[in-house]
Amino acid sequence: MINLAILVSGRGSNMEAILKSIKEGNIKADPKVVISNKRDARALSIARDYGVATEVVDDEGKKGVSWEFDRKILAILNKYDVTPDNGLICLAGYMKILSPEFVRLFRNRIMNIHPALLPSFTGLNAQKQALEYGVKVTGCTVHFVDEGVDTGPIIIQRVVEVRDDDTLESLSARILEQEHIAYPQAVKLFSEGRLRIVGRRVFID
Ligand code: GRF
Repeated sequence: MINLAILVSGRGSNMEAILKSIKEGNIKADPKVVISNKRDARALSIARDYGVATEVVDDEGKKGVSWEFDRKILAILNKYDVTPDNGLICLAGYMKILSPEFVRLFRNRIMNIHPALLPSFTGLNAQKQALEYGVKVTGCTVHFVDEGVDTGPIIIQRVVEVRDDDTLESLSARILEQEHIAYPQAVKLFSEGRLRIVGRRVFID
């Protein structure tokens, strides 16, 4: 069974979708800890409601990539026995970029969800970027994390049509519904050892 850690910064709806799926027995994984870089993240209280341990590594609003900060995350992962051998780390609305050192340690064991069809609309405000660009379809992507931003091998994508009367809110809400399907699905496949990575491509066995 894999030992799961989820990194969050805010609302925590994707984290909740994963924890719910585990609770319902759809995913065989042990959710060891939820770690936030923000003390006031709503995700923390949701995690506690699910009986999952929570930890905060407060970045005090400091932006930028920091191996020093990531080492504190690493110490917590060690404490909860989430290791490069048995672990999976899910970024779920974690608004910080991981250092290359950290990524290398957990190569192909860190996942992220992005609210667009990568490689389009990387970075922040992906839904807004898509709407303003005028694409007819957008969606969400679950991918492994590499040293870049939103550039790692793609595991699952789900498509959402953009409607003429969409606002940022309506489009984001429909994308979020698909995120809540895609992320637990990707974690399940990983936990069953069914993801095979060949170069940039991820095959589902
Ligand atoms: C989601 O839209 C996710 O795709 C992006 O950040 C948002 C997090 O939402 N990475 P939540 O905290 O999971 O509710």
